[in-house]
Amino acid sequence: MRLLYSILIIFAINLTIDDNSARANDEVPLLEFDSIVFPEVASMGMVTSQEVRATEVGVKILEQGGNAVDAAVAVGFTLAVTLPRAGNIGGGGFMLIYDAKKQEVNALDYREKAPMLASEDMFLNWRNNVDQTKARYSLLSSGVPGTVAGLVEAHKKYGSMPFEKLVQPAIELAKGMPMTYALSQSLNSRKQFLSFDQGSREIFIKPDGKNWQVGEQFKQENLAQTLSLIAETEGRDFYHGKTAKKIADYFKKNDGLMTLSDLKAYKAVWRKPVSTNFKGYDIYSMPPPSSGGTHLIQLLNIIKEFSIENSGASSARTSHLKTQAMKYVYADRSEYLGDPDFVSVPVERLTSQTYAKEIAKKIDLKKATSSANIKPGLYIDKESSQTTHFSVMDKNGNIVSNTYTLNFSFGSGKSIPEVGFLLNNEMDDFSAKPGSPNGYGLIGGEANKIEPGKRPLSSMTPVIALNRGKPWLATGSPGGSKIITTVFNFLLNRIVYNMNIAEATITPRIHHQWYPDTLFLEKGYPFDSMQELKTMGHNVIYRKPWGSLQSIEFQSGVFMGFADTRRPGALAKGYYEQANESTKNNTN
Ligand code: DON
Repeated sequence: MRLLYSILIIFAINLTIDDNSARANDEVPLLEFDSIVFPEVASMGMVTSQEVRATEVGVKILEQGGNAVDAAVAVGFTLAVTLPRAGNIGGGGFMLIYDAKKQEVNALDYREKAPMLASEDMFLNWRNNVDQTKARYSLLSSGVPGTVAGLVEAHKKYGSMPFEKLVQPAIELAKGMPMTYALSQSLNSRKQFLSFDQGSREIFIKPDGKNWQVGEQFKQENLAQTLSLIAETEGRDFYHGKTAKKIADYFKKNDGLMTLSDLKAYKAVWRKPVSTNFKGYDIYSMPPPSSGGTHLIQLLNIIKEFSIENSGASSARTSHLKTQAMKYVYADRSEYLGDPDFVSVPVERLTSQTYAKEIAKKIDLKKATSSANIKPGLYIDKESSQTTHFSVMDKNGNIVSNTYTLNFSFGSGKSIPEVGFLLNNEMDDFSAKPGSPNGYGLIGGEANKIEPGKRPLSSMTPVIALNRGKPWLATGSPGGSKIITTVFNFLLNRIVYNMNIAEATITPRIHHQWYPDTLFLEKGYPFDSMQELKTMGHNVIYRKPWGSLQSIEFQSGVFMGFADTRRPGALAKGYYEQANESTKNNTN
C-alpha cells in the first residue's frame, strides 16, 4: 500500500513538472480560448496565402515531403494563375528564407530592373512634369520581370523536389479551373480597365463581355504553355528562349524599351537581411532595394525606447508614439533609400539603436510634431493596388516569407497575349522626378531616380522572426506604402500586447507616411482614442481597411496560421501526420 502511495506521488509530481515546462514556453496558451478569434492549427506544417487553391497546392507539396521552399515555389507559380491581380510571372518580389539546418536567414531579391534603354527623365512631359499615364499604364512602366528567376534561384539553393513537379499544379489550373467568388469579383470589378488592352481583354474578359459567374470555367491556355516551358527548362526559356523572344518582339513592336538582352541579363540576387532584437525576438526582414525591412527595424528600435506596454494597443498614447515614429522613418525613406547596387544606402546607421534613440528624444509625448517640421513633400492618394504575400513553414522548421507584386492591381493592365501574362508597372516605384510622388504618394529623390539596370525602391516587408534562435514567426502583407506600418502594427500587437496572430491581424491598423500629414485609421479603430489623438494635434481620417497579412507562428510543437480576413478568398491551412505515417513512426 505504501509503495503504491509513493508511486502515485512521484507520478503526480512528474505531471506537474511536465505541465509547468510546457506552460513556460507558451506565450499565448493555445487552450485557454481567451480571444474572440483563433488561428488555424496543425502539427506538421502550414501555408497561408491570399488564395484558396494556392494554399492547397502548397500544403499538398508539404504532404508529399517537399520542404518550405518547394511549397513556396509551387504557391508562387499557382498564384500567377489563380490570383492574376497580384500573383505573377511578369512582376518581381522578395523572398526571405530560414534554413533550419544552417540556422540562418537569407534574403532573395528578385525585384524587377529598369531596362537598359531607360533614362532618368523618361516619364517627364514637355512641361517637365511627370506623365502619370506613361509611368503607370504604358509599356514603359514595366521593369524586367524577376519572379521566374527568383523562384528558380530559391529552388536551386534550397529545393528538394524536382522543379517541374512544383510548376505542374499551376499548369493544370491554367488549362482550366472553375471561377471562385473572389476571382470573379476581382475580374468583374476591373472589367473596364482590363478591356483597354487587347491582350488583357483576350485573357480576362469573356467574349460576350458579360460578368464572370462563380463556377464557370476559366482557361488561360497560353499561360499554361508558358508555364510548361518554364517547367521544362527550369526558367531558361523565359529569359533566353521562345518566351523571351516573344516578350522582346512584343516590346519592339509596341515601342517598349525591354529587349532580349535585358531579359538575358536578369539575375536574382542574394542579400543579407536587416535585423534587430525586439523584446527577445530576432526580427529579420528585407534590405534595400526594399525600404520595408530597414524602416520596420527603425520603427521597432524607436518604439523600444518607450514603455508602450503601459498603454493599450489602440490607445491614443500608443498610437501617438507609433505615428511620430512613422513620420520620421518615412522622411528618411524619401532621402536615403534606393538600389544598393547603384547608391550607397546608410542601412547600418538607419537601423542602429543609437539613431533610434536620437529620433525617440525628438518625440514629444503629448503633442504631434507636424510633418512640415520634419521634412517637406507632396502627396497624391491612390487606392486600388495589389501585391500579395504568402508564408510557409515545414515540419523541419524551414520558413519562407515571400512578398511579390505587379505593383498596381493587374499591374500596367497590359498583357502579352501570346505568352498569357500581365506586365508589371513597377517603374512607377522609381522617383520619376525628385519630390514628385509615386502611385502611393511616396516621395523620393536622387537615390531612387531612374537609371538603366537599376531596381526601383520598394516597401515590401517580408518578415521572419526567431525566438531564442528557434523558428517562430513569418509574416508580410500587400498595401503599397502601408505595408511597412501594417507589419509594424502586427508585430506590436503580437509581441507587446500578447495577442494571438489572428487577433493581432484583425485589430484595426493605423498608418502615417510623413506626407500627407495625415494619420490614417482603419474602420473599427476606437472613436475615443481618435478624439484624443485629434486634441494632440494629429490630422486623423478613417479609411476603408487595408493590407492582407499572411502569418504563421510555430509554438510548442504547433503551427498556427492566419490569413487576413480583410479580403475574400485567403486561406491558412496546415496538415496533420497521416495515420499510416504515425503507425510507421510508432513501430520504428
Ligand atoms: O514594391 C512596392 O512597394 C510596391 N510596388 C508594392 C505595391 C503594393 O503593395 C500594392 N498592394 N496593395
